[in-house]
Amino acid sequence: MKSMDASQIKQENQQYVLHSWSKQKNVNPKTISKAEGVFFWDETDNKYIDMCSQLVYLNVGHQHPKLLEEFKHIGEIPLAAPGFATASKAALARKIVKAAPSNMAKVFFTSGGAESNDHAIKMARMVTGRYKIFSRYRSYHGATFGAGNLTGESRRFEVEPGIPGFIKFDTPYLYREVVDFPSEEEATQFYLARLKNQLLYEGPQSIAAIFIEPIPGSNGVLIPPKGYLEGVRALCDEFGILMICDEVMTGFGRTGKMFAVDHFNFEPDMITFAKGVTSGYAPLGGVIVNDKVANYFDDHVLMTGLTYSGHTVCTQIGCTTLDIYQEENLIEHAAKVGEQLAKRLEQLLSFNSVGDVRYIGLFAAVELVKDKTTKQPIIEYGTDYGKDKVGLMSKFISLLSENGFYTYSHESSVIIAPPLVITEQQLNEAMDLFEKTLIQFEQQYLFTDQTLLTK
Ligand SMILES: Cc1ncc(COP(=O)(O)O)c(C=O)c1O
Repeated sequence: MKSMDASQIKQENQQYVLHSWSKQKNVNPKTISKAEGVFFWDETDNKYIDMCSQLVYLNVGHQHPKLLEEFKHIGEIPLAAPGFATASKAALARKIVKAAPSNMAKVFFTSGGAESNDHAIKMARMVTGRYKIFSRYRSYHGATFGAGNLTGESRRFEVEPGIPGFIKFDTPYLYREVVDFPSEEEATQFYLARLKNQLLYEGPQSIAAIFIEPIPGSNGVLIPPKGYLEGVRALCDEFGILMICDEVMTGFGRTGKMFAVDHFNFEPDMITFAKGVTSGYAPLGGVIVNDKVANYFDDHVLMTGLTYSGHTVCTQIGCTTLDIYQEENLIEHAAKVGEQLAKRLEQLLSFNSVGDVRYIGLFAAVELVKDKTTKQPIIEYGTDYGKDKVGLMSKFISLLSENGFYTYSHESSVIIAPPLVITEQQLNEAMDLFEKTLIQFEQQYLFTDQTLLTK
């Protein structure tokens, strides 16, 4: 494997590997020749600052020395199937429960985000004896059949016709709402009243759970209006519905607190997690459940399981990752550098092509528009996938990459979510590259090439 050069890797990738969410003939991935901290280098030695932590998971940065050291000892620990008690599984579950909101009691381990949501669906149905599941438009919960059915955007369509009883409701997205609310509180009232109606129309006695990304990530870092999540919690309490927060992207420090729910004044019944728990160094996810859910399974069979639930290697890496967050004060650091990111993002609003900026901690999106007054998006909704990538957003992402700023986009939002270890200076340098790219972009495309405008 070591002896393969970059051109051979690329050629064999093209020949043998199926890549997600892409027409295979359009796939032309870079290779990573080396990486360190917030940086990686490609096969031609171009240096990039990784401003999306790969897929928003590499919180502790590339090649963290403590994790590299841990991997050297991994083989020494005997592998054990889920039926065994292991030190790493017990220790990681304890650390997660202690880090989570105070009502959380136990953890069920999975291998990733979608599997975690699938298991939360099953548990909610078992605990409540109800079958309907509410989730939101403009959400992403994963690509398996269950999580795919939760998902509220075009990546759901391949699992349709879907599972009966999966209902969607609107995510507050004030920048693009048809109503111009005078205040966040009024927006909250509007969305909660609509949700309450929908619960009543669907029959609350059949609704097991409401799934929510507290801050939807892939769909553009949509910060909820004041009081909204607390209001959803109150509706769940009123109707005996479980509230499940998907923190696969936001968990473990991304937003400047351990979990995104820590920014608000409520506690969910379950939290699903993945990515940051190991910083992606090993595939691991899980469902954290409150005491009510945990107690239910004292006397009822938990009718689910996975060969790799609590896998020895992954939970060991999870323990080390959580130690790193603590030892390096990474979550407080993310909150602090996040304040600088906020300043830099606000400055971007002076550009004609920047419609909106949204941020919390080191989790942000820049929404690009063709026209600031009409808010015409840079890419029409639902055209992200399937079409050949020739649109303005692809041009922008390519320009960013040419300038050494690596990230990805979804619809009209560019995601900015660097490793939590980023320094203020590195962040400023990266944002200088972002501004330089916006200048080039507006000069090259927005105002000179009218044909691109019409694409
Ligand atoms: C909020 C959220 N939930 C679930 C998932 C799915 O996780 P995975 O790809 O590990 O299955 C993702 C992936 O990006 C996510 O952002």
